[in-house]
Amino acid sequence: MWTSVFIYSIEHPAGGYKKIFESCEELAEPIPAHVSGKIPAWLTGSLLRVGPGLFEIGDEPFYHLFDGQALMHKFDLKDGHVTYYRRFIRTDAYVRAMTEKRIVITEFGTTAYPDPCKNIFSRFFTYFQGIEVTDNCLVNIYPIGEDFYACTETNYITKVDPDTLETIKKVDLCNYLSVNGVTAHPHTEPDGTVYNIGNCFGKNMSLAYNIVKIPPPQDDKSDPIEKSKVLVQFPSSERFKPSYVHSFGMTENYFVFVETPVKINLLKFLTSWSIRGTNYMDCFESNDKMGTWFHLATKNPGEYIDHKFRTSAFNLFHHINCYEDQGFIVVDLCTWKGHDFVYNYLYLANMRQNWEEVKKAAMRAPQPEVQISKKKIENISSLGFVCVSAFEFPQINYKKYCGKNYTFAYGLGLNHFVPDRLNVKSKETWIWQEPDAYPSEPLFVQSPDAKDEDEGVLMSIVVKPGVTQRPAFLLILSATDLTEIARAEVDVMIPVTLHGMYKP
Ligand SMILES: [Fe+2]
Repeated sequence: MWTSVFIYSIEHPAGGYKKIFESCEELAEPIPAHVSGKIPAWLTGSLLRVGPGLFEIGDEPFYHLFDGQALMHKFDLKDGHVTYYRRFIRTDAYVRAMTEKRIVITEFGTTAYPDPCKNIFSRFFTYFQGIEVTDNCLVNIYPIGEDFYACTETNYITKVDPDTLETIKKVDLCNYLSVNGVTAHPHTEPDGTVYNIGNCFGKNMSLAYNIVKIPPPQDDKSDPIEKSKVLVQFPSSERFKPSYVHSFGMTENYFVFVETPVKINLLKFLTSWSIRGTNYMDCFESNDKMGTWFHLATKNPGEYIDHKFRTSAFNLFHHINCYEDQGFIVVDLCTWKGHDFVYNYLYLANMRQNWEEVKKAAMRAPQPEVQISKKKIENISSLGFVCVSAFEFPQINYKKYCGKNYTFAYGLGLNHFVPDRLNVKSKETWIWQEPDAYPSEPLFVQSPDAKDEDEGVLMSIVVKPGVTQRPAFLLILSATDLTEIARAEVDVMIPVTLHGMYKP
């Protein structure tokens, strides 16, 4: 069983973390990185990540961490050399903001106002048509078939070229599936089948969460998205208020869906389509009575298992892993205790405060912890938790151990919401940290011919604003003990990145 080992105390009085929430410019071409250490010869490929890169349009600021315009980053590794490149994704939100020089599309926590230059009639019709749903795909990037898509959590995903970082096209999932959006954390099977989950505000105001399935690359080279379908539905605990869902679990034979007390007030959400001054954040509320519900469904065929578990209230963003073990399903989660929505604490103004203020604000927020729960499959009645110390942005040896009994999880230590260390957890904990350095989610890449689960490297983008010449670097660590293998430093700042992938 995992145990908590360290009590952390890291201070950031210099406030260097504020730099990761600042706008930057894209690059005209890839720039060389200065490598120290020795990058393994087999590590040839691209680290692709996305995050906010533009935090204001002219003098109009974005307010929330999830509002800045999507910037795609790429570190290319070849023959021990590394280059860095980045481009803004040409979403409608970005292109129209650039054209009209104002915020045109409402983002997660920032409301777009109609063009003041338009006359009263055209403004009226803008309201009548409602708020446009954002395609600002700043959250993650993942493959579907032979293609790569950047995404947020709406019904729009954006096809990008992982080599040139060019934007190819915007895809509306509503054209293929009955969902109102899907998460930025799909699961992918070794053959390329993609599963995801999304809210469905169905006919007759019925509410459900749909698991969708996108098949692997097609022999006839057609787009697998065209053959996507809803596989199974989870019912909603409340008639008009679906829970916010950020990720889900998948074992070899089951889907695990955790329904948390963070709710979307659907009536508010739908009426906001015609009400001035509303954004997505305005539509969330907490249910302080329901606690948290666990649901299960079988994968093949996709069938809902009509038994629920209830436990105490928590926020959940990231599943670590789930697997079947002797009649149990083990569900490992990064949770935040309580029903108060953690995103309420992620406004940029809070995150850019001085350190003492950041600390104070974070103490009032739900506190993070990692939970391991065991659920008996046949007789769904027992549920036990073990809490271990906190980390977020969890990663595992996904290719080999997703849905399987595993030992190692990797994560980003968040000290009062500021990323300042990388963890690997098992019976022991290893940590990488450096003064005034802010790492990103560590991605695991397995060594060729690896025999052990942790044989490979971790890759993280680290920002170190104190260093004037080379303020950011790609860090490559041994996944076995978090010792440094190499770093590739660049002479530009890199803003915060949320999620990403390694493309061999
Ligand atoms: Fe996420």
